[in-house]
Order: sequence, then C-alpha cells, then structure tokens
Amino acid sequence: MTTHLSIVTGGSRGLGLALVEQLLARGHRVLAIARRITELPVPAGAALESWTVDLADPLPVAERLAGWLAAQDPAALASVTLVHNAGVVSPPAPLSASHPAALSNALRVGLEAPLVLSASFLHATEAWAVPRKLLFISSGLGRRAMAGSGSYCAAKAGMDHLARALALEEAAKPAGARVVSLAPGVIDTDMQVQLRAADPTLFPERVRFQSLKDNGQLDSPAQAAAKVLKVMDRDDFGSLPVTDVRELA
Ligand SMILES: NC(=O)c1ccc[n+]([C@@H]2O[C@H](COP(=O)([O-])OP(=O)(O)OC[C@H]3O[C@@H](n4cnc5c(N)ncnc54)[C@H](OP(=O)(O)O)[C@@H]3O)[C@@H](O)[C@H]2O)c1
Repeated sequence: MTTHLSIVTGGSRGLGLALVEQLLARGHRVLAIARRITELPVPAGAALESWTVDLADPLPVAERLAGWLAAQDPAALASVTLVHNAGVVSPPAPLSASHPAALSNALRVGLEAPLVLSASFLHATEAWAVPRKLLFISSGLGRRAMAGSGSYCAAKAGMDHLARALALEEAAKPAGARVVSLAPGVIDTDMQVQLRAADPTLFPERVRFQSLKDNGQLDSPAQAAAKVLKVMDRDDFGSLPVTDVRELA
C-alpha cells in the first residue's frame, strides 16, 4: 500500500520529463507515454515503464491503457494519478494560412487524447479504493485568446471545460477522482523554441515570446515541475477544476 502509481503523457522531454524525474525521485512507479522513449536513471524503490506511441492516434493507446490498468493490483497501491501533459503547438500562423493536418494533429494530441485516455483511466480505476487524481496540463492560452494559435487555444479551452464537466461527474460519486486542469506557467522547453522560431509575418506575438526568454522570465522544466507537483500535493486539489500554478504554487 505504499506504491504511488503515476502515468505521465509527453514524458520524454520538457515539462513531462522533469515531472517523471521528480516523481521517480519520490519513489513513484511511473508509466511515461510519448513517441520517444523516456530515459532516466531510476532511483531504488522507484520504477519506470516507457511506452513509445503516437497520441495523435489516441484510441489504441486508450485501449492499451485500459488493459494495462485492469492488470494492476490496486491493493498494492497508495494512489493513482494520470497527468495528461503532452501538447502540441501547430506552426504559429492564422488559421487561414495553416495546414489542416497540423491543426488536426494539435487537436488530436491536445484534446482527443486527454478525453479518451481519461475515459479509460476513470473507468478502469473506478472501483479502486485509493485516491485518484486526474491532472491536465493546460495553458493560460486556454483562457486568453492569442492570434496565430487557434488550434492550441481551442485544445486548451476544451481541456479546461472537459475538466469542469469531469469534476462535476466525479463529485457525484462516493469516491470520485479529483480533476484539475492546470496552467503551468511559461517554461523553457522546445515548445517555446518553436514559438520564438515562428515567422513574424504570420505570428506577430513572436516578439513577446522572444522577450520572455531575453528577460529571463521562463521557468526551467524542473522549476515548473516542482510547482505542478506542489499543486498536486495540496489537500484541496480538485476544489478548483481550472487553475494556474501562478495562483496556487
Ligand atoms: N512551455 C511552455 O511555456 C508551456 C506553457 C503553458 C503550457 N504548456 C503545456 O505544458 C505541456 C508540456 O509542454 P512542453 O513545453 O514541455 O512541450 P514540449 O517540450 O514540446 O514537449 C511535448 C511533449 O509532448 C509529447 N508529444 C508531442 N506530440 C506527441 C504525440 N503525437 N504523441 C505522444 N506524445 C507527444 C512529446 O514527446 P515526443 O516528441 O517524444 O512524442 C513531449 O514529451 C504541454 O501540454 C504544453 O501545452 C507549456
């Protein structure tokens, strides 16, 4: 009853990799899900399993997750958590100048995958007598629109509203999961590199992202992960289904 099980999507780099590293340091058993393998030293007492799958095709992953969870022994667990961290920014540009395939990819990874993986998670663990948490890594851009990132704004706004609906459903159950969609702050990862590398004629906001970097306003992935975990540790986790580390951590 001492093993904490954590499932992290997008655990191969950026914020997700830092989350996996810090969860392993806490002795968690971690399942990391991304296209690339998640490679980290595993401290004694912790365990890491890495699935290399494409969340742009989320149904087979959701089915695999359901089967994998069904094979676990909940009596051996102290808690179970799904962190949906994987996210994609399609090349920043107005929708009228965007490629439909890139837009579709951003929505499939950023919204369809959390939806169907959450369904598998909530169904498979419903009868487990352990605390269950579902955390979506959202963004301030789910709450504040930005030109040139319509697919990302739509995915994150959808994720936030999904969290609100799931929180209502789970609150109506005797031992429902606690659900939060959390904006993690601004983080020095590949995603920021992509925003700074955008064509300024298609994405005028590029200068703002450049100045965040130039002015040292980005958290390192490790700093951001520590803030996310601090929110996850709170006794009142789930009381606000949509929130921001800058308000809580
Ligand atoms: N960076 C920021 O400033 C910032 C701000 C607000 C919110 N966020 C959010 O924080 C989360 C993490 O962002 P990040 O900055 O760490 O991003 P990142 O460095 O671009 O990493 C994205 C992660 O998602 C995974 N991923 C992408 N496409 C995938 C696919 N098709 N299938 C499976 N996994 C996929 C990547 O793994 P593979 O490439 O190995 O597949 C990687 O592990 C995202 O949800 C992002 O929207 C970031």
